Amino acid sequence: MDMIARFHPLIVKRIAWPDEATTQTFALALAKRPAIGKAMIELRGDLGAGKTTFARHLLSALGVQGRIKSPTYAVLETYSLALPSNTDSMLNSIHISHFDFYRFNDPREWEEAGFRDIFASQGLKLVEWPEKAGAYLPKPDLQIAIEVLNDESRVVTLSAFTAVGTELIA
Ligand SMILES: Nc1ncnc2c1ncn2[C@@H]1O[C@H](COP(=O)(O)OP(=O)(O)OP(=O)(O)O)[C@@H](O)[C@H]1O
Ligand SMILES: [Mg+2]
Repeated sequence: MDMIARFHPLIVKRIAWPDEATTQTFALALAKRPAIGKAMIELRGDLGAGKTTFARHLLSALGVQGRIKSPTYAVLETYSLALPSNTDSMLNSIHISHFDFYRFNDPREWEEAGFRDIFASQGLKLVEWPEKAGAYLPKPDLQIAIEVLNDESRVVTLSAFTAVGTELIA
């Protein structure tokens, strides 16, 4: 079922990502928002749209060091970061869960791998291919839907579904 049909967004914005540098600039700005540490963000778009690319820029901006693996095979990659005390955030550390549900096909995995617990707890949740996890997923704070145009530039639809999501894109 389409996300727009499941939940009603509070704000919708369309922006352009003409190149990867623009994607990075957007990720840098998002990383500075205090709400980022507790956000559930869905990344939608076809194969190669740029979901992992955006996630990598966001995680780097938050301070993840080194190579950031795509969770395509493992379904989930996690990170724990100490936040510098000069950030606006109320938190002094942040837990990050980066999912890719493309290969997710065993609903039992949802309970057994503890995914339910992750979505119920604090931390940043980034979710590629949310449509493959279907109804298991809770309502996202923010949905980032990436569309590739003929010239390889991206048009991105940002939909905020909660106050946290609104704070991220306001
Ligand atoms: N804004 C952009 N403009 C142009 N090219 C981009 C942009 N963002 C990403 N790319 C390029 O497009 C490709 C996107 O690959 P990426 O792995 O991020 O896609 P994905 O959406 O995660 O795909 P998958 O569904 O397989 O996980 C990369 O080669 C990247 O360099
Ligand atoms: Mg990917």
